[in-house]
Amino acid sequence: MIDSRRFRWFQAAAALLLLFGCSGDSVPGKERLILSNVHVEGYPTAQGLRDFERRVGEDPLLGERLALDLQLGGVLGNEKETLEKLGFGGIQMACTSVAPLAEFSRTIGVLTLPYLFRDPEHMWRVLDGEIGEELLGSLEANGLVGLAWYDAGARSFYNRQRPVRSLEDLAGLKIRVQKSEIMREMVEALGGSPVSLGFKEVYTNLYTGAIDGAENNVPSYRSERHFEVAKYYSYDRHSTIPDLLMIHRGVWQRLSEEERAALRRAARESSAAQRGFWRDYVEEALAAVREAGSEINEIDDVESFQRAVEPLYVKHAALYGDLVERIRAVE
Ligand code: GCU
Repeated sequence: MIDSRRFRWFQAAAALLLLFGCSGDSVPGKERLILSNVHVEGYPTAQGLRDFERRVGEDPLLGERLALDLQLGGVLGNEKETLEKLGFGGIQMACTSVAPLAEFSRTIGVLTLPYLFRDPEHMWRVLDGEIGEELLGSLEANGLVGLAWYDAGARSFYNRQRPVRSLEDLAGLKIRVQKSEIMREMVEALGGSPVSLGFKEVYTNLYTGAIDGAENNVPSYRSERHFEVAKYYSYDRHSTIPDLLMIHRGVWQRLSEEERAALRRAARESSAAQRGFWRDYVEEALAAVREAGSEINEIDDVESFQRAVEPLYVKHAALYGDLVERIRAVE
């Protein structure tokens, strides 16, 4: 039988928790926005998000209205789970890679096609222009609002076995990819064996030898300490996939016009800052992994990699053909 006195005590405690928040992190009078990201403190994306947090806090309108609760280091889950939570409003904001996002919102997946951009400058001209705006708008149908692109550099292969100098060296290697169909297809087209895993699962799987390698930018190779277990990093720069700062559409709609404009401004200013943090960190990360014994090589015949992934463009022509053409036409 339930002890009614104890039950009343529980009810009172629950009411108090609801009123004041259970971990002391809700701020009376402000709307709490949980923002999730996989990167650790000090990583350029995390620095960009700290910059965003500061701008929101200091903004005369937003500072009174919103309490940003930035959760770094993947404590709220890998990106697939994060995006699921964001989709139903379990969290209010997230900054993730576009690759897993494309499983929820197809159009934006054009950005995950390998060798889409000529160089990083080309990518930024596309993202900062009309096509970038259109891609952000395409998320609305999935209940999300895209606020600002963050730099995530170019992705290349690294592994425990050998330097990759040609497609033959990739043959048969078990390579971790993000939860993304196009990334799986890309690794297959290049002769590797793709294994989809969350970002925070990569280190253990490399360590135990369950996978031979992965593919990512040098900052992630360093910050997640993958260089300790996968010594060979080979620059084929197969994709340049940005990260994206997003907010749940329901939350967005509760904000006034002025508040939305201020939030978008804070996000875009943080994006400009983040690109600077990125540039600084890339140099530092490269020096650190070299120092720790990583062997880093360029690939002479990148054209053979580009040719090998051409079938992906054919396969996805119905969905992405027009967009690809427009992206390639951007000077
Ligand atoms: C990059 C990107 C992350 C992503 C990760 C991955 O580090 O910035 O958002 O999670 O790649 O490979 O999963």
